[in-house]
Amino acid sequence: MSSLTLDAPAKVNLYLRVLGRREDGYHVLDSLFHTVGLYDRITLSASASGPTLTCSDPSLAGPGNLALSAAHHLADAAGRAPDVDIHLEKAIPTGAGLGGGSSDAATVLTGLNRLWGLGWPRERLAEIGAALGSDVPFFVYGGAAVIGGRGEFVTPVPDMAGRWCVLLNPGVGVSTAAVFSAYARESTAELLTERRSAPIITPASTVPGTIPEGDWMNDLEPVACRMVPEVGHALDALRNAGGKGARMSGSGTTVFCLAPTREAADGVRERLAAAPGWNVWVVPLTAAEAAVPVHD
Ligand code: C5P
Repeated sequence: MSSLTLDAPAKVNLYLRVLGRREDGYHVLDSLFHTVGLYDRITLSASASGPTLTCSDPSLAGPGNLALSAAHHLADAAGRAPDVDIHLEKAIPTGAGLGGGSSDAATVLTGLNRLWGLGWPRERLAEIGAALGSDVPFFVYGGAAVIGGRGEFVTPVPDMAGRWCVLLNPGVGVSTAAVFSAYARESTAELLTERRSAPIITPASTVPGTIPEGDWMNDLEPVACRMVPEVGHALDALRNAGGKGARMSGSGTTVFCLAPTREAADGVRERLAAAPGWNVWVVPLTAAEAAVPVHD
C-alpha cells in the first residue's frame, strides 16, 4: 500500500460545559462530542521527499498546519522518516467550532498508522494527538464521546447515528484561544473556583443522557455572541426556521440544531432566511465506523 485516501469528519458539541480553569490556562471541559457527515478529504502518499503538504486552500498549507505536525510527531514516536506527501481537500470551514483542523490531524495519525504498518492502538495515537491540539484525541475515536480534562479524556458513548443536523455557519470565523480568554476574563474568580471544586468527571457524567437533552447548552455561547454578533443572528435565524434547541458548536462560529429525520432537517433549511455569505449543510450524525478509508 503506497497511498491512502480518507474522509476526516467534522464534529458538533451537543453540550459543552466549562468546569474550571487549570494552572496552565487551559479550561477543564465536560462536553458531548459527535461526528457529523461533513468531511475534509485527505490523501496520504508514500514519498521519499516527504513530508509535504498541499491543500485546496493554499493559505492553509503552511508549516503550522496540524496535519503536517501530526506526520512529524508520529514519525518521531515511531523512530522513522516522515516520508509522506499529504494532500488536503478542505470542505470544513476553519475557525468554525467544527474541529476541522483537529480532525485532519487525527486522520493523518490513523492513516499513517496503517500506511506505515505500525498497528498502534487508538489510545497511543490519541496520546500523540493530545500534544497536537485539545480536540485531536476525540477524532482518533470519532462517533459520540464524552470529553473531559482539556480534551484528553475520551469516553466513547452510544452514538446517535440516524438523527440529522442542520449546520449554519455565518461566514466569519473566530479564534478558539480568543473565545476562551474572553470567557476567562468575563468569569468571576469565584465562579471558576466554585466550578473547579465540582468533580471534574463523575462516573455519572460519562453516561449519555445524564444531562437531559432539553438542558444541553454551550457555556461559551454568550461570550462568542458578544465577540461575533453574527453568531447570535445565525441562532435567531435557525430558531425562526423552527430549529429546536439551536445552539453553538465548540467555540463557534457555527450553530446547529438536531432533527429526527432528513426531511425535518431539510424543512428547517428551506425555511431558513440565510444572509449572503452564510453556509448551510444538512448532515447526519455519524457512527465511529464511518471513519473508514475511502479507498487504499
Ligand atoms: O488545544 P488547542 O491548541 O486546540 O487550543 C487552542 C486554544 O484554546 C488554547 O491555546 C487555549 O487558549 C484554548 N483552550 C482552552 N481550554 C481547552 C481547549 C482550548 O483554554 N480545553
